[in-house]
Amino acid sequence: MNPIEKFRKWYYKETEKSSVKIPSACCLSSIGMDGYPNSRFVSLKEILDNKFVITGPLNSKKGIELLSNPKASLTFWWTETERQIRIQGDAVQIEDELADKYFAERNKESRIVSQISKQGTEIESLTELITLFEEQKIKYDTVEIKRPNDWSGFYIIPKRIEFMEFKKNRFHIRELFIRENNNWDKILLQP
Ligand SMILES: Cc1cc2nc3c(=O)[nH]c(=O)nc-3n(C[C@H](O)[C@H](O)[C@H](O)COP(=O)(O)O)c2cc1C
Repeated sequence: MNPIEKFRKWYYKETEKSSVKIPSACCLSSIGMDGYPNSRFVSLKEILDNKFVITGPLNSKKGIELLSNPKASLTFWWTETERQIRIQGDAVQIEDELADKYFAERNKESRIVSQISKQGTEIESLTELITLFEEQKIKYDTVEIKRPNDWSGFYIIPKRIEFMEFKKNRFHIRELFIRENNNWDKILLQP
């Protein structure tokens, strides 16, 4: 089975059983400007043309890191099915039209916060930002909230995808798919 198909099947199985609020949550790791790995949770938006899509500000830490060193990993842990998926691949910025679509899908509060907050930069206190948020909420009651130029996303184009399924007998099943050109090779790894 193709790993993308397998991913979709596993995701479906987990969401069927799970009641967590954000089942699409995954750990995105990038390579920090200082060489240390940098990880945080993001939401997987969807898989388009075999590419995993994530979104966020380009001038955030993750944006800066992925633009400067476009290598990333996404890691999922699904508790109901006791499965882990690890993806490594290349990060490529999504098209503006696609970023517009994802931005429009965000709720009003999130869109306003994306407008006014410089994600990840130091701030003395949140008070001023919250006041600005309240003002903008009134302003944007009638006006359309435009996507900030630096709000976009990335395709993570997978090179390797590892599926691990917990087994009670400790012989967890680890299947590693490796992309060679446009074909996927599969090997089994020791637990
Ligand atoms: C479950 C979950 C989902 C998240 N989804 C996103 C997301 O899709 N995009 C995003 O920019 N931040 C998301 N965040 C916030 C990030 O974890 C992180 O705080 C933010 O992106 C700043 O990271 P950076 O400074 O490394 O760029 C999410 C956090 C959690 C806990």
